[in-house]
Amino acid sequence: MASRHTVVFLVAVVISLSDFIHSFQPLFSPDGNSTTHRDISLRAVLRKTAEVCRDMAASEGRDFRLTIDDSLSTDKVQRACSTTGTSTSLLSTVLFQTSIANMYFSNAKVDVAFALSEKHHFDDETFQGGRDVITAGVAAVKASVKLESFVAGRRNLGQVCHTLQDFYSHSNWVELGNKSPYSTLISPDQPLENLAGLSVPTCRNCTGGKCENNLLPDLLQQGLLTSGYFNIFSAAKPAGKCSHGGSFDRTSRKDPVGGISKDDLESSHGSLHPKAADLAVNATMELLEDVRVAVGDKNFLRLMGLSQSSVLCFVIDTTGSMSDDIAEAKRVSFAIIDSKRGTQQEPSAYILVPFNDPGFGPVTMTANADVFKDSINKLSASGGGDIPELCLSGLQLALTAAPPSSEIFVFTDAPAKDAHLKSTITAIIESTKSVVTFMLTDVLASRRRRRNTQRVSPRKMTQLDAQLYRDLARASGGQAIEVTKSDLTLATSVIEDSLANAVVTVFQVVRNPGRPDNFTFIVDGSLMNLTAYITGASSLTFDLTSPTGVSQSSSQFSGPLATITTVGNLRRLSLNTDNQTGSWEISVNSKNPYSVKVTSQSSVNFIYNLLEAHEGAHGDFSLKEGRPLSGGNASLMISVTGSDKVKVTEVTLFDSSGPTEVNGSLQSVGSGNFLVTFSGVPAGEFVVRMKGEDGSSTSRSTATSFQRQASTQIKTSSISVTAQASNTNIEPGSTISVPFTVSTTTNGVVNDSATGMFTVRANNDRSYTSTSPSSITIASGDGGTANGTVTLTAPASAASGTDVTLTIEAENAAATDINYAVLRFSVVAKVTDITRPVCQTVSSSSNCPSSSSLCASSQWTFIANLTDGINGTGIESITIRKGNGTLNTSTVAGAGGANVTVATYSASCCSQNVELAAVDKVGNVGKCAGQARKTTVATTLTAITAAVNTTSTGGHTLSISHCLWISVVVSLLWK
Ligand SMILES: *[C@@H]1O[C@H](CO)[C@@H](O)[C@H](O)[C@H]1NC(C)=O
Ligand SMILES: *[C@@H]1O[C@H](CO)[C@@H](O)[C@H](O)[C@H]1NC(C)=O
Ligand SMILES: *[C@@H]1O[C@H](CO)[C@@H](O)[C@H](O)[C@H]1NC(C)=O
Repeated sequence: MASRHTVVFLVAVVISLSDFIHSFQPLFSPDGNSTTHRDISLRAVLRKTAEVCRDMAASEGRDFRLTIDDSLSTDKVQRACSTTGTSTSLLSTVLFQTSIANMYFSNAKVDVAFALSEKHHFDDETFQGGRDVITAGVAAVKASVKLESFVAGRRNLGQVCHTLQDFYSHSNWVELGNKSPYSTLISPDQPLENLAGLSVPTCRNCTGGKCENNLLPDLLQQGLLTSGYFNIFSAAKPAGKCSHGGSFDRTSRKDPVGGISKDDLESSHGSLHPKAADLAVNATMELLEDVRVAVGDKNFLRLMGLSQSSVLCFVIDTTGSMSDDIAEAKRVSFAIIDSKRGTQQEPSAYILVPFNDPGFGPVTMTANADVFKDSINKLSASGGGDIPELCLSGLQLALTAAPPSSEIFVFTDAPAKDAHLKSTITAIIESTKSVVTFMLTDVLASRRRRRNTQRVSPRKMTQLDAQLYRDLARASGGQAIEVTKSDLTLATSVIEDSLANAVVTVFQVVRNPGRPDNFTFIVDGSLMNLTAYITGASSLTFDLTSPTGVSQSSSQFSGPLATITTVGNLRRLSLNTDNQTGSWEISVNSKNPYSVKVTSQSSVNFIYNLLEAHEGAHGDFSLKEGRPLSGGNASLMISVTGSDKVKVTEVTLFDSSGPTEVNGSLQSVGSGNFLVTFSGVPAGEFVVRMKGEDGSSTSRSTATSFQRQASTQIKTSSISVTAQASNTNIEPGSTISVPFTVSTTTNGVVNDSATGMFTVRANNDRSYTSTSPSSITIASGDGGTANGTVTLTAPASAASGTDVTLTIEAENAAATDINYAVLRFSVVAKVTDITRPVCQTVSSSSNCPSSSSLCASSQWTFIANLTDGINGTGIESITIRKGNGTLNTSTVAGAGGANVTVATYSASCCSQNVELAAVDKVGNVGKCAGQARKTTVATTLTAITAAVNTTSTGGHTLSISHCLWISVVVSLLWK
């Protein structure tokens, strides 16, 4: 066993421990043929999502045409799930892809964050511990979904799937001949049986380097479950026990030598790797099904990110002078809601965050348009008036509440009082890739400010104040739109534009300081409704030239290439691209700062994530949060959406303010995914730009080249900040400590002779109590690194499922460089109710005719009593899983005071099966099934100890056995 001292040391070097990955490979297969956690998760998510869509289509009487097998892709599934549209219509799978990526990145992270925790990997026969991890994780997923906190739900889901999947690689479940998943792992109320005890030997030596028959025959005969021991420091293991195996596992060199892992094809039991991976897929689907039943089909699809539309997210200043702005925000959002309700473009959720001074929040986050309308109706402009407002605090809440890559609109006419949050907001923008656009009203012109400095009230926003908003807009790829209050109505068309279907960014650039410049961008045949936005001073002029040489100047409001509207500092160009694919040029003439952004609609787009490489025998990657290191290497994973025929030809880090463009080297990792590596990324600010050829583009054009650009800027830093918490869930009322490390790097490598002082800031979006050193010093002899600890305390009153984002920033003494770590936690109350609701069938009356042709004229009824027992959290919902009849429920007092829900289901005799699911308040699912055809009186009803009157069954008194309430088995009374 590692000593305590060693463990402390290990925490500090935890990143390098992931070099010893000992599970299915997290993201990429070393041999190209093994199945990774990413593959397993993707297959399970696609199949389960397709099943849910199929079932929903069936219940709504819609067609569903898709074969559900392992050849599914995100595009195929989303198209099949789409209730409108055709196989060729515009469709964006960006949100779905992003959500799935978030799940597999948090899955992969378990190998970094919990590298040495045996229970997270079912090593060392820790079956109870492993199942506890799963039970707690599944409860956290359900709690998050209940609060519509899908981002946190996906993170928890990814993690819990890692542990579940590892079971099939690390245990002998496959070797025992099992053909289906071990359901007990997701059923905490079932006993774990047939475990090989600590003193039971399980393995013998592998012989001749082959481990095919190293499990003891006795063990297999008795059907006993075991798993391999694993340790990278010590060879110690209990006598006769199996090891995990592999070069890093020291226990596998001790008698009995060898291992049983099925992590990849080269593992000790590598020949069983495909079987283990297939079972892990089915087990993951089973877990997803449990979550699906607990949260309902609609919320399950939201959790999977199967949404075509974006969220509508407003952050609104509600101080006195804002009444016109609030009225406009109300008008535009109501117009959007009313015109899109019931269509595919209806926003998938609505988020509203008010702010003023001293307050901000709360966040309203809802899928219900009427709830949003209600909240925005309740906003009224009052108070404030002479002080700056808490704009960034409000924005921080919106950024962490919204799904990644959302567009957020901020309405204000005041400077931010909380400008100290700028770097925190920038960090969260970089981490969420959300776009922030500011609608700034009545910004003072710089000339007036200079003349009347004393008379300008602090409420008024100066050019300098507005620069903060411009910087944040720029970091995110959004815009800072400055208009008069009376013109705001004309500017809000950008909000409607952003909510169009499948919006992509084709090109974007910022010039600050401004200078005349020419820009080119490629227009491809898949693009529809090309729109350009140019912000800048009123003196700015430009010329637009199409590939065929037609041109138009900014003075022509309606010309051959574009219709131009101008409001405030914004020019919106609606481009006419008919048959004009190819290279377009825009030349801008301005000495003041300006920005150019070209967007369009297309199914073809991409998502990217920064990765961190791990060295070692099975070098793999994990998601990198924080800025890449100046002069170092950077890796990205790119996923192309919208076409199976896209060929990516070039991925660059493009410096949008200068001439630098760093080329990445591309490696395909299957299904439209690419690993891109950049070496020696210079200091600077970049965006990811992708170019490719689309083989599927058809009649619309001959040109097949296309380009897309990401919105978010990637800044590099010479400071490295790493932080790792021991847990990602916090119980209400408890405190978590987060150790972090700061170092200075040169060309991406820690400079071990560097010294210096760094300002440290720790901020969280929930205003939870947090402690942090205000600075940290690397002294000479410290090896170039300094360590500190941040604590975060969740209040006892925090609702289970609340997520909280903590950023830890370190800034150098000159305040010229900053880097950060972003950590996300879920507040999850300890789940004590692990038993599922129990179903007891009471009766099934059937007058169904034996001839099925007569079925439509007859009805049958099924009655069941459901309870969560005395100690349960109580039944929250009962739904019909199978059957198209009607369900009525009533609640009565049962034996011993437990609430009993009487479910009465009636259906036509043409539908003779029913399955009901009862979900308790923490998401445990109990099911009961019934069938019309053969009726039998339940024999269990003879054990009558308590009588319950019900009102819904026509006056008979039903009697239920008291002792049955604690039964955990779902009774099936018909065979
Ligand atoms: C991967 O599988 C392919 C096709 O089965 C085979 O040709 C190739 O040799 C395999 N590669 C490795 C490294 O095992
Ligand atoms: C198993 O292998 C080890 C190492 O080669 C050897 O020392 C030991 O004697 C072997 N045990 C048996 C039972 O053969
Ligand atoms: C997984 O489930 C599918 C569909 O239910 C089934 O066809 C397949 O045989 C299962 N695979 C394993 C390894 O159990």
